[in-house]
Amino acid sequence: MSLPKVFITRPLPHPAVERLATRCDCKMHPEDAPLDLQRLTEACREVEGLMVVGARVGHEVLEHAPRLRVIANVGVGYDNIDVNACTRRRIVVTNTPDVLTETTADLSFALLMAVARRVVEGDRYVREGRWRYTLWECLWGADIYGKTLGVYGLGRIGKAVARRARGFSMRVLYYDIVRPTFALEQELGAQFVDRETLLREADFLTLHVPLTPATHHLISVRELALLKPTAFLINAARGKVVDEVALVEALESRRIAGAGLDVFEQEPQVHPVLLTLPNVVLTPHVGSATYETRLAMAMLAADNLLAVLEGCRPPNPVNPEILA
Ligand code: 8YV
Repeated sequence: MSLPKVFITRPLPHPAVERLATRCDCKMHPEDAPLDLQRLTEACREVEGLMVVGARVGHEVLEHAPRLRVIANVGVGYDNIDVNACTRRRIVVTNTPDVLTETTADLSFALLMAVARRVVEGDRYVREGRWRYTLWECLWGADIYGKTLGVYGLGRIGKAVARRARGFSMRVLYYDIVRPTFALEQELGAQFVDRETLLREADFLTLHVPLTPATHHLISVRELALLKPTAFLINAARGKVVDEVALVEALESRRIAGAGLDVFEQEPQVHPVLLTLPNVVLTPHVGSATYETRLAMAMLAADNLLAVLEGCRPPNPVNPEILA
């Protein structure tokens, strides 16, 4: 019996590739760079399984992949995949939740701390040899300890960020369309508030919602106008959740104090004004980028892929309605 054909869109850690290679006929794009649509479509023609890192998979690819049974996304967010089109074709889509929760929460908190305490500006100041004697008024930032954290979206990552805030004696407010149990609110020390109160009272507003049509430009002119002038916006979720033009305007005019951003509307393009603003810390979509976590993501995606190809229920289906 021949092994099922699988295509992997980026080079993945060796243990994950090895796990697949013993049970599948695997081909892997050898470069850590995006594939254009034509090459991706070509690579998917014969495959039953596709392991996706970052690539967009829309109907153009699906139409030319008649044998495809499973798309294992190496990531928790799956806005890069047309899940409805997959469901119509009975292609199972899976993702990698849980394994990246703490790591992504760490980066959200790192951005919060870096922008509040001007860590990147300080680094530049020292490297550029500008530290000739210690100034009293050198790089004053904002306190984190004792401030109010506004968590927009109390899912897995939002909760993990809320837990970190406890160590800084922060007051934690949150808004979500689903309310967790009272016990969990107690454990997190998080208080539910309406959207407007969250925006008005947060010293740090941190976003943890998936990108869906309902969350596109969730933070725009109106929302930014509600924030305190001393507030910071942290986004390690998805770039399109924030109206970047409105954010640039709010930052430039000091309508808000600053931002820590790991994600952008048109990655890898960054609004040119953001690159010039000192009150912004920018990272290149690296929320889950640690050795441990990227390995765990690749292994989990491999498990999901193999499960479907071998007729079992995968651990993390995104469209479970098509599973028997
Ligand atoms: C990945 C992510 O970098 O999991 C996610 O949703 O955004 C990141 O962990 C991305 O999915 C690339 O595959």
